[in-house]
Amino acid sequence: MSDFAIDVQGLCKSFDGRRVVKDVTLQVAKGRIVGFLGPNGSGKTTTMRMLCGLLTPDAGEGRCLGLDFRRQQRALKRQVGYMTQKFGYYEDLSIRQNLDFVARLFQLADRKRRVDEALEQLGLASRQEQLAGSLSGGWKQRLALAACLLHDPQLLLLDEPTAGVDPQARREFWAQLRTLAAAGITVLVATHYMDEAERCDELVFIAYGEVLAQGSQQAVLEAAGITEGNLEDACVSLIARAHDNFAGANA
Ligand SMILES: Nc1ncnc2c1ncn2[C@@H]1O[C@H](COP(=O)(O)OP(=O)(O)OP(=O)(O)O)[C@@H](O)[C@H]1O
Ligand SMILES: [Mg+2]
Repeated sequence: MSDFAIDVQGLCKSFDGRRVVKDVTLQVAKGRIVGFLGPNGSGKTTTMRMLCGLLTPDAGEGRCLGLDFRRQQRALKRQVGYMTQKFGYYEDLSIRQNLDFVARLFQLADRKRRVDEALEQLGLASRQEQLAGSLSGGWKQRLALAACLLHDPQLLLLDEPTAGVDPQARREFWAQLRTLAAAGITVLVATHYMDEAERCDELVFIAYGEVLAQGSQQAVLEAAGITEGNLEDACVSLIARAHDNFAGANA
């Protein structure tokens, strides 16, 4: 069995004839937290949706958790937790009811125990009767994480999970991710927050659908040609360069 949780090559996707993911190759070792960076519209969500089997790529091959991500989508969905970019639960159901609903969708045995554990793990037990629609951003995000952990996934794809969440709640969220990674779970997390990028073990930077840098923070700085400056400077520089290339190629 491979040591990579994600090992895919040459992923491509077009919408209406427009190429939005171009020849993306990703290798992520098990138990790592990998930050997925890139400007709006660069292809992060599209890539994640392909990795978890929700969207069929136009091209590309590879494996996630040892499964062929194109041909074993059903099996893969049972082992991947995907947190969508937009809060995706029923606002007029309570926290517990939402989790119970997800547990039914996954046809989990021992539903009550699983829901109880998830409530405990994410510190949601005291609020379990509260309607999801009345939760603040940080609590909604905890509910979303609890829901995507219910079926014990080995790979988490988290799409901007902390957007609009306050610093304290974000800090707690990242402590949770560390605990999960220490238990061997692999995390690919899209974020626009540089402080979060700095907490990751590795980074992938994408722009105009192409991976421009991959590896440590230092690797991203080097790819951007930055000797003095921080990660944000590197991202801005990579975006500017990609923009020039893209504009040149489409002139
Ligand atoms: N279903 C779709 N149909 C048509 N175009 C789409 C579809 N999904 C995404 N796109 C386009 O593909 C491009 C990449 O979108 P994607 O959502 O993957 O970007 P992103 O990196 O996640 O951006 P953000 O940081 O804003 O979330 C965008 O131009 C978007 O408009
Ligand atoms: Mg997105």
